[in-house]
Amino acid sequence: MSLLTKKIPLYLSPEEREGLQAAGRFNASLMDYLRPHVAEGMSTEKLDRLAYVYTMDHGHTPACLNYKGYPKTICTSVNEVVCHGIPNTRPLKSGDIVNVDITTIVNGWYGDQSETFLVGEVSDAARRLVQTTFDALFVGIHAARPGGTVTEIGRAIQAFAAQAGYSVVREYQGHGIGRDFHQEPGIPHYPQLTSNRDLLRPGTCFTIEPMLNMGTWETKLDKKDKWTVRTKDGALSAQFEHTLLMTDAGPEILTLTQHGPQEGHRF
Ligand code: MF3
Ligand code: CO
Ligand code: CO
Repeated sequence: MSLLTKKIPLYLSPEEREGLQAAGRFNASLMDYLRPHVAEGMSTEKLDRLAYVYTMDHGHTPACLNYKGYPKTICTSVNEVVCHGIPNTRPLKSGDIVNVDITTIVNGWYGDQSETFLVGEVSDAARRLVQTTFDALFVGIHAARPGGTVTEIGRAIQAFAAQAGYSVVREYQGHGIGRDFHQEPGIPHYPQLTSNRDLLRPGTCFTIEPMLNMGTWETKLDKKDKWTVRTKDGALSAQFEHTLLMTDAGPEILTLTQHGPQEGHRF
Protein backbone atom coordinates (compact mmCIF):
# COMPACT_ATOMS: atom_id res chain seq x y z
CA MET A 1 0.00 0.00 0.00
CA SER A 2 1.48 3.31 -0.99
CA LEU A 3 0.78 6.70 0.50
CA LEU A 4 -2.23 8.61 -0.68
CA THR A 5 -1.91 9.16 -4.40
CA LYS A 6 -3.38 11.89 -6.49
CA LYS A 7 -6.00 9.44 -7.70
CA ILE A 8 -7.70 9.96 -4.36
CA PRO A 9 -10.28 12.71 -4.62
CA LEU A 10 -9.09 14.71 -1.64
CA TYR A 11 -11.03 17.81 -0.71
CA LEU A 12 -13.73 17.32 -3.25
CA SER A 13 -15.34 20.53 -4.39
CA PRO A 14 -19.04 21.00 -3.59
CA GLU A 15 -19.93 20.00 -7.18
CA GLU A 16 -17.78 16.88 -6.95
CA ARG A 17 -19.39 15.93 -3.66
CA GLU A 18 -22.79 16.43 -5.25
CA GLY A 19 -21.72 14.11 -8.10
CA LEU A 20 -20.72 11.37 -5.69
CA GLN A 21 -23.83 11.81 -3.59
CA ALA A 22 -26.05 11.56 -6.66
CA ALA A 23 -24.32 8.33 -7.70
CA GLY A 24 -24.82 6.87 -4.22
CA ARG A 25 -28.47 7.90 -4.20
CA PHE A 26 -29.15 6.29 -7.56
CA ASN A 27 -27.33 3.10 -6.59
CA ALA A 28 -29.39 2.93 -3.39
CA SER A 29 -32.61 3.42 -5.36
CA LEU A 30 -31.62 0.43 -7.51
CA MET A 31 -31.17 -1.66 -4.35
CA ASP A 32 -34.59 -0.52 -3.15
CA TYR A 33 -36.02 -1.57 -6.51
CA LEU A 34 -34.39 -5.02 -6.44
CA ARG A 35 -35.04 -5.86 -2.79
CA PRO A 36 -38.64 -7.12 -3.08
CA HIS A 37 -37.58 -9.37 -5.97
CA VAL A 38 -34.98 -11.26 -3.95
CA ALA A 39 -37.14 -14.22 -2.99
CA GLU A 40 -37.54 -17.96 -3.16
CA GLY A 41 -37.93 -19.16 -6.77
CA MET A 42 -36.27 -16.12 -8.31
CA SER A 43 -33.08 -16.73 -10.24
CA THR A 44 -30.10 -14.45 -9.84
CA GLU A 45 -30.01 -14.04 -13.63
CA LYS A 46 -33.49 -12.49 -13.50
CA LEU A 47 -32.31 -10.13 -10.75
CA ASP A 48 -29.39 -9.22 -12.97
CA ARG A 49 -31.70 -8.45 -15.87
CA LEU A 50 -33.90 -6.24 -13.66
CA ALA A 51 -30.81 -4.34 -12.49
CA TYR A 52 -29.58 -3.86 -16.05
CA VAL A 53 -32.90 -2.57 -17.37
CA TYR A 54 -33.46 -0.25 -14.37
CA THR A 55 -29.98 1.24 -14.75
CA MET A 56 -30.29 1.76 -18.53
CA ASP A 57 -33.84 3.14 -18.24
CA HIS A 58 -32.50 5.83 -15.92
CA GLY A 59 -29.72 6.68 -18.37
CA HIS A 60 -26.90 5.36 -16.18
CA THR A 61 -24.18 2.74 -16.64
CA PRO A 62 -23.74 -0.66 -14.97
CA ALA A 63 -20.17 -0.58 -13.61
CA CYS A 64 -19.51 -4.32 -13.37
CA LEU A 65 -20.65 -5.29 -16.87
CA ASN A 66 -17.46 -5.88 -18.89
CA TYR A 67 -15.31 -4.64 -15.99
CA LYS A 68 -12.10 -6.64 -16.50
CA GLY A 69 -14.28 -9.03 -18.50
CA TYR A 70 -16.95 -9.55 -15.82
CA PRO A 71 -20.03 -10.81 -17.73
CA LYS A 72 -22.99 -9.41 -15.74
CA THR A 73 -24.46 -6.24 -14.22
CA ILE A 74 -24.48 -7.37 -10.57
CA CYS A 75 -22.72 -9.90 -8.38
CA THR A 76 -24.85 -12.49 -6.58
CA SER A 77 -23.03 -14.56 -3.99
CA VAL A 78 -25.01 -17.47 -2.56
CA ASN A 79 -24.14 -19.33 0.68
CA GLU A 80 -20.45 -20.32 0.61
CA VAL A 81 -19.74 -17.81 -2.17
CA VAL A 82 -17.81 -14.93 -0.60
CA CYS A 83 -18.05 -12.40 -3.44
CA HIS A 84 -18.14 -11.93 -7.22
CA GLY A 85 -20.69 -14.71 -7.78
CA ILE A 86 -22.00 -14.58 -11.36
CA PRO A 87 -25.80 -14.52 -11.73
CA ASN A 88 -27.19 -17.77 -13.10
CA THR A 89 -30.46 -19.62 -13.77
CA ARG A 90 -30.66 -21.54 -10.45
CA PRO A 91 -33.76 -20.44 -8.54
CA LEU A 92 -33.08 -19.16 -5.03
CA LYS A 93 -34.36 -21.63 -2.47
CA SER A 94 -35.55 -21.42 1.10
CA GLY A 95 -32.57 -21.46 3.45
CA ASP A 96 -30.18 -19.68 1.07
CA ILE A 97 -28.40 -16.51 1.98
CA VAL A 98 -27.51 -14.34 -1.03
CA ASN A 99 -25.43 -11.22 -1.26
CA VAL A 100 -26.47 -8.80 -4.01
CA ASP A 101 -23.68 -6.35 -4.88
CA ILE A 102 -24.51 -3.50 -7.24
CA THR A 103 -22.32 -0.76 -8.68
CA THR A 104 -23.45 1.95 -11.07
CA ILE A 105 -21.87 4.96 -12.75
CA VAL A 106 -23.83 8.22 -12.69
CA ASN A 107 -22.29 11.13 -14.63
CA GLY A 108 -18.87 9.56 -14.21
CA TRP A 109 -19.16 8.91 -10.46
CA TYR A 110 -19.40 5.43 -8.89
CA GLY A 111 -21.78 4.17 -6.23
CA ASP A 112 -21.15 0.68 -4.78
CA GLN A 113 -23.13 -1.25 -2.15
CA SER A 114 -24.28 -4.72 -1.21
CA GLU A 115 -26.71 -6.49 1.09
CA THR A 116 -27.09 -10.11 2.12
CA PHE A 117 -30.65 -11.43 2.01
CA LEU A 118 -32.26 -14.33 3.87
CA VAL A 119 -34.33 -16.44 1.47
CA GLY A 120 -37.40 -18.11 2.99
CA GLU A 121 -36.67 -19.87 6.28
CA VAL A 122 -32.97 -19.85 7.11
CA SER A 123 -31.16 -21.55 9.96
CA ASP A 124 -30.51 -19.63 13.18
CA ALA A 125 -26.81 -20.00 12.47
CA ALA A 126 -27.09 -18.34 9.05
CA ARG A 127 -29.29 -15.55 10.44
CA ARG A 128 -26.76 -14.83 13.19
CA LEU A 129 -23.92 -14.66 10.65
CA VAL A 130 -25.88 -12.19 8.51
CA GLN A 131 -26.82 -10.10 11.55
CA THR A 132 -23.23 -9.96 12.78
CA THR A 133 -21.93 -9.00 9.34
CA PHE A 134 -24.49 -6.20 9.04
CA ASP A 135 -23.56 -4.92 12.50
CA ALA A 136 -19.86 -5.23 11.61
CA LEU A 137 -20.33 -2.82 8.71
CA PHE A 138 -21.63 -0.19 11.13
CA VAL A 139 -18.88 -0.95 13.63
CA GLY A 140 -16.47 -0.17 10.78
CA ILE A 141 -18.32 3.00 9.82
CA HIS A 142 -18.18 4.27 13.39
CA ALA A 143 -14.45 3.50 13.58
CA ALA A 144 -13.81 5.77 10.58
CA ARG A 145 -12.88 9.23 11.88
CA PRO A 146 -11.88 12.35 9.95
CA GLY A 147 -8.09 12.35 9.94
CA GLY A 148 -8.01 8.86 11.44
CA THR A 149 -6.19 5.92 9.90
CA VAL A 150 -7.63 3.20 7.71
CA THR A 151 -6.31 0.58 10.15
CA GLU A 152 -8.82 1.63 12.78
CA ILE A 153 -11.66 0.35 10.59
CA GLY A 154 -10.19 -3.11 10.24
CA ARG A 155 -9.19 -3.29 13.88
CA ALA A 156 -12.76 -2.60 14.99
CA ILE A 157 -14.34 -5.02 12.51
CA GLN A 158 -11.90 -7.83 13.25
CA ALA A 159 -12.44 -7.53 17.02
CA PHE A 160 -16.22 -7.46 16.61
CA ALA A 161 -16.26 -10.50 14.29
CA ALA A 162 -13.86 -12.49 16.48
CA GLN A 163 -15.93 -12.05 19.64
CA ALA A 164 -18.90 -13.45 17.71
CA GLY A 165 -16.83 -16.44 16.59
CA TYR A 166 -16.42 -15.53 12.92
CA SER A 167 -13.42 -14.98 10.69
CA VAL A 168 -12.86 -11.97 8.45
CA VAL A 169 -11.91 -12.40 4.78
CA ARG A 170 -8.46 -10.96 4.10
CA GLU A 171 -7.96 -11.42 0.39
CA TYR A 172 -10.70 -8.96 -0.61
CA GLN A 173 -11.08 -5.48 0.81
CA GLY A 174 -12.97 -2.23 0.64
CA HIS A 175 -11.49 0.46 -1.59
CA GLY A 176 -11.30 4.09 -2.49
CA ILE A 177 -13.92 5.01 -5.07
CA GLY A 178 -14.88 8.11 -7.01
CA ARG A 179 -14.35 8.56 -10.73
CA ASP A 180 -12.71 5.12 -10.62
CA PHE A 181 -14.26 1.87 -9.39
CA HIS A 182 -11.32 0.71 -7.29
CA GLN A 183 -8.55 3.04 -6.19
CA GLU A 184 -6.45 3.74 -3.17
CA PRO A 185 -6.73 3.52 -0.28
CA GLY A 186 -7.43 -0.20 0.11
CA ILE A 187 -9.70 -0.72 3.13
CA PRO A 188 -8.79 -4.04 4.77
CA HIS A 189 -11.35 -5.37 7.26
CA TYR A 190 -8.62 -6.60 9.59
CA PRO A 191 -5.85 -4.51 11.18
CA GLN A 192 -3.29 -4.59 8.37
CA LEU A 193 -0.51 -2.42 9.73
CA THR A 194 0.52 -0.80 6.47
CA SER A 195 -2.86 0.96 6.35
CA ASN A 196 -1.68 3.04 9.32
CA ARG A 197 -0.17 5.29 6.67
CA ASP A 198 -3.48 5.89 4.95
CA LEU A 199 -5.41 8.76 6.46
CA LEU A 200 -9.14 9.28 6.11
CA ARG A 201 -8.89 12.98 5.34
CA PRO A 202 -12.13 14.85 4.75
CA GLY A 203 -12.96 14.46 1.08
CA THR A 204 -11.87 10.83 0.91
CA CYS A 205 -14.47 8.55 -0.66
CA PHE A 206 -14.26 4.83 0.05
CA THR A 207 -16.22 1.65 0.69
CA ILE A 208 -16.43 -0.57 3.75
CA GLU A 209 -17.58 -4.08 2.81
CA PRO A 210 -16.74 -6.72 5.40
CA MET A 211 -17.05 -10.39 4.46
CA LEU A 212 -17.47 -12.65 7.51
CA ASN A 213 -17.13 -16.44 7.36
CA MET A 214 -18.43 -19.15 9.69
CA GLY A 215 -15.20 -21.10 9.26
CA THR A 216 -11.81 -20.18 7.88
CA TRP A 217 -11.10 -16.72 6.41
CA GLU A 218 -9.32 -18.36 3.50
CA THR A 219 -10.91 -18.34 0.06
CA LYS A 220 -10.50 -20.06 -3.28
CA LEU A 221 -11.20 -18.74 -6.76
CA ASP A 222 -13.33 -20.77 -9.16
CA LYS A 223 -10.96 -22.39 -11.65
CA LYS A 224 -13.41 -22.28 -14.53
CA ASP A 225 -15.07 -18.86 -14.39
CA LYS A 226 -12.12 -17.09 -12.66
CA TRP A 227 -14.57 -14.82 -10.78
CA THR A 228 -16.55 -16.75 -8.17
CA VAL A 229 -14.80 -16.61 -4.79
CA ARG A 230 -15.77 -19.33 -2.32
CA THR A 231 -14.75 -20.08 1.24
CA LYS A 232 -11.93 -22.63 1.21
CA ASP A 233 -13.84 -24.89 3.64
CA GLY A 234 -17.27 -24.46 2.04
CA ALA A 235 -18.75 -22.76 5.13
CA LEU A 236 -21.21 -19.86 4.84
CA SER A 237 -20.09 -16.29 4.16
CA ALA A 238 -22.00 -12.99 4.36
CA GLN A 239 -21.24 -9.40 3.32
CA PHE A 240 -22.63 -5.87 3.50
CA GLU A 241 -21.24 -2.76 1.80
CA HIS A 242 -21.74 0.98 1.73
CA THR A 243 -19.99 3.81 -0.10
CA LEU A 244 -18.88 6.59 2.28
CA LEU A 245 -17.63 10.14 2.02
CA MET A 246 -15.44 11.36 4.86
CA THR A 247 -16.44 14.85 5.99
CA ASP A 248 -15.23 17.09 8.81
CA ALA A 249 -18.13 15.75 10.87
CA GLY A 250 -17.42 12.05 10.18
CA PRO A 251 -18.38 9.59 7.45
CA GLU A 252 -21.48 10.28 5.41
CA ILE A 253 -23.14 7.12 4.04
CA LEU A 254 -23.85 7.83 0.37
CA THR A 255 -25.68 4.59 -0.39
CA LEU A 256 -28.27 4.60 2.39
CA THR A 257 -31.51 3.11 1.15
CA GLN A 258 -34.95 4.42 2.01
CA HIS A 259 -36.56 1.02 2.36
CA GLY A 260 -33.66 -1.23 3.32
CA PRO A 261 -32.20 -2.21 6.67
CA GLN A 262 -31.02 0.79 8.73
CA GLU A 263 -28.40 0.68 11.48
CA GLY A 264 -29.70 -1.42 14.35
CA HIS A 265 -31.98 -3.52 12.10
CA ARG A 266 -32.75 -7.03 13.38
CA PHE A 267 -32.87 -9.78 10.76
N1 MF3 B 1 -18.82 -4.52 -6.34
C1 MF3 B 1 -17.59 -5.21 -6.02
C2 MF3 B 1 -16.92 -4.39 -4.95
O1 MF3 B 1 -17.54 -4.14 -3.96
C3 MF3 B 1 -16.71 -5.40 -7.19
C4 MF3 B 1 -17.28 -6.28 -8.22
S1 MF3 B 1 -16.21 -6.33 -9.55
C5 MF3 B 1 -16.95 -7.41 -10.60
O2 MF3 B 1 -15.83 -3.90 -5.04
F1 MF3 B 1 -16.30 -7.33 -11.69
F2 MF3 B 1 -16.89 -8.62 -10.07
F3 MF3 B 1 -18.20 -7.07 -10.76
CO1 CO C 1 -16.79 -2.27 -3.34
CO1 CO D 1 -19.58 -3.84 -4.28
